[in-house]
Amino acid sequence: MKSFTQKLALTTALVSSIALGAVSAQAEPTAEVLHYWTSGSEAKAVKALKEDFEANGGKWVDAPVAGGGGDAQAAVLRSRVLSGNPPAAVQIKGLSIQEWAEAGALGDLTKLGEEEGWDDVLPPLLQKIVKHDGKYVAVPVNIHRVDWIWANPKSLAKVDGEPPRTWDEFNALADKLQAAGITPLAHGGQPWQDGTVFETVVLGMGGAEFFNKAFIEKDMATIKSDTMKKVFDQMRKMRGYVDDDFSGRDWNLATSMVMRGEAAMQIMGDWAKGEFLAAGKVPGKDFLCVPTPSNGGYILNSDSFAMFNVSSEDDKAGQALLARLILGEKFQETFNLYKGSIPARMGVPTEKFDECAVKSMNDLQSASESGALVGSMAHEIAASGAIRGAILDVVTEHFNSDMTSDVAVERLAEAIELAE
Ligand code: GAL
Repeated sequence: MKSFTQKLALTTALVSSIALGAVSAQAEPTAEVLHYWTSGSEAKAVKALKEDFEANGGKWVDAPVAGGGGDAQAAVLRSRVLSGNPPAAVQIKGLSIQEWAEAGALGDLTKLGEEEGWDDVLPPLLQKIVKHDGKYVAVPVNIHRVDWIWANPKSLAKVDGEPPRTWDEFNALADKLQAAGITPLAHGGQPWQDGTVFETVVLGMGGAEFFNKAFIEKDMATIKSDTMKKVFDQMRKMRGYVDDDFSGRDWNLATSMVMRGEAAMQIMGDWAKGEFLAAGKVPGKDFLCVPTPSNGGYILNSDSFAMFNVSSEDDKAGQALLARLILGEKFQETFNLYKGSIPARMGVPTEKFDECAVKSMNDLQSASESGALVGSMAHEIAASGAIRGAILDVVTEHFNSDMTSDVAVERLAEAIELAE
């Protein structure tokens, strides 16, 4: 015979399952969205998504975690998943999507993708990033280019300087600026920002094949090569071009330094352009966008939202709505105009995009044809979290000490081997 409390428990369970059934018939699409878009332009971009979602009947639960590059957010995500309470939608990228899918943490969006025809509107390159075992587990919002120099034309004019086309020209310009009392490089000393500068130098000095051999194949001869030593030599020079207060500075504050003419250049992905635009600055006039020297290379980064396993019908409806909206043509235009990136979806009208975005689109095309297109290591497209972490540790330690390039390449090789 069942006790009273057992009976009560059964009854409650029955009642709540009836209630859940009732709700599921008219689910209220809800999504807790975990992201790290907290700078001025990023907040505008994410607000566009929130407003679109709400206008379509969704309930948006905002979960921002400040910290550029997403390292702080990644820690929050791990603990949320471990405690069995993942957010419905999470801004993650590249190999991190594959790792979470491998761990069985992501929902399957394939049916929705078929209904919406995603295979026809997404370039194969991005499909590879957001599919796991042939199934859609995430949706891409954009394509960000990493290898950019953002320059203040007035600062360059003060020394009769031209945007550099080689790293030697970069150094010559930086030396001139420094001699004129202008900080050449606005930089934020955070591992992901050090890594961002580092990977542009790797591509510039080694080329795409070298880049992939080092970061994807983890080829030890490449990692310990003379070319890699030259990369660290250049990083040592860069260290001499930043101001005294660079340590720990957020990337968007470094961008402001260029806007205000407190520094001449910043090496950063085109989320920095979002900040210039949000401040009303005009490309080609108030700021210049010039690819870092690399002979036609292109470092690709792409933000996506992955949909984590959730059980409530409201959350599932929220994920489907969000995914559908993200790949919509209108949203892809609005969001990317704020964000500084270019659309992930093919065929979005380009009229409203500025000259930097158009350059990104054209250079992406030509780099992909010439084999000079690479995925970002610092932004987790080419390297897993563990490998990226190992590389950034060494790059940051080198940047903040007097470590020689010979020692740096040995340390890099060790760190990568350990992380494998
Ligand atoms: C990148 C991300 C961008 C931007 C930037 C600064 O990794 O892809 O969307 O947010 O970090 O946080």
